[in-house]
Amino acid sequence: MGLHSKYQVVLVCVLLLPALCLSRFTNSRATYYNTSDGSGTPTGACGFGDYGRTENSGRVAGVSGLWRGGAGCGACYQVKCNDTKLCRTDGVTIVVTDMGSGDRTDFVMSLNGFLRLGLNANASDELRKKGTVDIQYRRVRCTFGGSNVKIKINENSRFPDYLAIAVIYVPGSKDVVSFQISNNNGRDWKPLRRVFGGVFDLENAPSGPFKVRVQFSRSQTWAESPNNVIPADWKVGAIYDSRIHVDHATS
Ligand SMILES: *[C@@H]1O[C@H](CO)[C@@H](O)[C@H](O)[C@H]1NC(C)=O
Ligand SMILES: *[C@@H]1O[C@H](CO)[C@@H](O)[C@H](O)[C@H]1NC(C)=O
Ligand SMILES: *[C@@H]1O[C@H](CO)[C@@H](O)[C@H](O)[C@H]1NC(C)=O
Repeated sequence: MGLHSKYQVVLVCVLLLPALCLSRFTNSRATYYNTSDGSGTPTGACGFGDYGRTENSGRVAGVSGLWRGGAGCGACYQVKCNDTKLCRTDGVTIVVTDMGSGDRTDFVMSLNGFLRLGLNANASDELRKKGTVDIQYRRVRCTFGGSNVKIKINENSRFPDYLAIAVIYVPGSKDVVSFQISNNNGRDWKPLRRVFGGVFDLENAPSGPFKVRVQFSRSQTWAESPNNVIPADWKVGAIYDSRIHVDHATS
């Protein structure tokens, strides 16, 4: 009977209603870092550049154990703090843009993200004075940037032969683990290698335009752009929509 109902849960989660099967909360601690405007840092270890400062309304964080060799870049987490007198019950959703550790913390949040944990301005100020607080967190889908994977040409790129891209927005709740490009409509694919954080690169890059495809964690298949999405005259710093669509209901 116990085994039977366990299989039923798995069936419901995998096949029918993944939305009902969000991960459980994990106990941990969180602290914050400050910037001039309380948003993120433009120099986060994910390689998102200035995009990482303002994305998700500047509610971002550095992580330690959840870094996953950079594959954790762009992942979204719901974080709520424990003190019922000070903390909002639904907490805040933050996105990972950096690596960071404090005193036994999983998250070093931007101040704007951290203050959002509080029930009101006074409560947030109390939390800020504590500095490090007990929290619970769980992985959630990223939805704030729409449902397409977005990439940005990294600042280290040199047109036309050194191409480095950062996967800056990953909708859904899976990591992007591999990234490839094709300049002949998908007949041949060139793998990029992960250099650091969310950044993948390719030396001696062929000439564009390019289709791109990505592999998500726990998947054997590739998700591919419907057409060319990186133009032949790609620009350092430019953000391109991969048009790789992630269905929020099933991801
Ligand atoms: C954060 O930094 C800004 C600019 O340096 C400063 O005005 C503000 O008081 C700081 N906030 C905290 C909580 O330290
Ligand atoms: C925070 O709350 C959770 C859920 O009630 C609990 O399991 C955990 O022990 C609490 N953390 C601390 C440090 O008290
Ligand atoms: C916040 O604190 C101020 C000053 O202590 C107080 O006047 C105000 O009523 C408090 N507001 C709330 C919502 O608790």
